[in-house]
Amino acid sequence: MERYQAIIENKEYITHVRNIEKYEADREFGHHDMSHFLDVARVGMLLNLTEDYNIPKDILYAAALLHDVGRDVQYEDGTPHEIASAEISEHILMSTDYNEDERSMILEAIASHRNDDIRDERNLKGLLYRADKLCRPCFFCKAEPECYWKRDKKNMELIW
Ligand SMILES: [Fe+2]
Ligand SMILES: [Fe+2]
Repeated sequence: MERYQAIIENKEYITHVRNIEKYEADREFGHHDMSHFLDVARVGMLLNLTEDYNIPKDILYAAALLHDVGRDVQYEDGTPHEIASAEISEHILMSTDYNEDERSMILEAIASHRNDDIRDERNLKGLLYRADKLCRPCFFCKAEPECYWKRDKKNMELIW
């Protein structure tokens, strides 16, 4: 069994993901749900393999599954969700087999997943940033004109 199985079975994780679903029930686009987390993981793996990042699959999947887990906290009190997600993820990861070095690598990537400055770094941080954007089909989104993402962040070209 993969180590990230412990994440998707973690009660705290499930509670946050279900909570986000409630907040986004009326949202038309850009959901932060399991489909998005898996899109990030899988597009991340495609980049990882085709661009030789050599990041272990279970490290990348942990970061992808957890990167938006604090989105409900942002809806509740305005805390930027990369910060809330890193805090919640630290707790969740303690109940898994990821070691201290791996946990800090994953948490660092989560905390910087909205930071443009790291987008081209050839490490887990850069990979998570890019996969998070590349997996969104902005080019086909009805709500694209109203979306708050800056134009250069939107994915208007189909690559993966
Ligand atoms: Fe995010
Ligand atoms: Fe995301």
